[in-house]
Amino acid sequence: MRFANITGWGKCLPPAVLTNADLTTIMDTSDEWITSRTGIRERRITHVKYSELAALAGKRALAAAGLKAEDLDMIILATAVPDNMIPNGASAVQDQLGAKNAAVFDLNAACTGFVYGLSLATAMVRSGSVERVMVIGVDGIPFYLDWTMREVSVLFGDAAGAVIVEPSDTASGLLADKLGCDGDARDILMASDSGSVRERFADTVDGLYAINFEGQEIFKRAVRGMGFAMNTVLEKLEMKPEDIDLVIPHQANIRIIETLAKRLNAPMDKVMVNIEKYGNTSAATVPVALCEALEQGRIKPGDNLMAAAFGAGLTWGACLVKWGDRITPLGECDDELPACDKTALELLQPWVDGSRKANEV
Ligand code: ACO
Repeated sequence: MRFANITGWGKCLPPAVLTNADLTTIMDTSDEWITSRTGIRERRITHVKYSELAALAGKRALAAAGLKAEDLDMIILATAVPDNMIPNGASAVQDQLGAKNAAVFDLNAACTGFVYGLSLATAMVRSGSVERVMVIGVDGIPFYLDWTMREVSVLFGDAAGAVIVEPSDTASGLLADKLGCDGDARDILMASDSGSVRERFADTVDGLYAINFEGQEIFKRAVRGMGFAMNTVLEKLEMKPEDIDLVIPHQANIRIIETLAKRLNAPMDKVMVNIEKYGNTSAATVPVALCEALEQGRIKPGDNLMAAAFGAGLTWGACLVKWGDRITPLGECDDELPACDKTALELLQPWVDGSRKANEV
């Protein structure tokens, strides 16, 4: 039988760090509130285009897999922040990588985008229609934020993570998944004028997106959606929670992660958590956490990994990945992002000023 193993992995975190203390200088909040309610201590803000974060994560994944960019048949870019709507963001990544043989497209399932993308890549590789697929999760919800909304602005950061999926004869890679969406609740997490419904020439167009964010309802549905998806995956594989070696959950709120772990009866030392460093990086949380779990030696050959995510839509999903034989990269990529000469607060200042001005009107 043909399987679809993960053979390469890479991440890219922009260097500018926005701490909770920084946030207290631009809004009425505190380190104590943010840490106790969310588990987040700092997050990153990018000084380059999102496609550049994605491409560097992709280069690192290619090096880890021992492949060249020309070897890729497909790039799936899971993102809500393509550099342009026309053409797609994935074409910018293809161009920067020089992956000239790859078909490319964007996939917008918000924070669940990487899990959706991995599912799709796996199905295509297993069917034999393609050989090598790069799946990238890159996101930057800070771009959409109204920086006067303290209940939302403290949660998000920028990042990218990527994996390479290739055929394998042995049972490895994504073995089962469950994806879904609660479209009837799509308005509880929404930038309602971020697409073609926006009235382009209206007097009120001021650079702000109209954000609706009902935190507690999202919280409940996140736990329900990811919990249901994980249980369904376990049932499909006739596995028990104790068969899972490491849970790699979407990093949106430490309290959501802890509730989920409790429902799964998984001790926290079997759960990958890095939310304190990066906040919620949407489609990038799962691949970045996967990379860090490998770097920290928390994944062994043959381990059963359960990834789960939820996001705007409200999309949700989970998948069981059986890790292959190799837990170290075949090669390294020496490329780095261009140096950043601004602090995170300086990078944010135009958005903070713009948000304040628009809210004064
Ligand atoms: N600093 C200080 N106080 C704050 C802040 C802040 N940044 N934000 C809100 N507060 C205040 C509120 O005004 C409220 O004050 P009040 O009691 O005087 O009215 C109080 O704190 C409590 O607010 P709640 O909203 O009840 O706080 P809650 O415990 O629900 O936590 C949170 C809010 C963190 C947003 C939580 O609901 C949550 O994490 N929800 C899930 C959100 C999420 O994961 N979203 C990502 C979706 S993924 C995607 O696709 C983008």
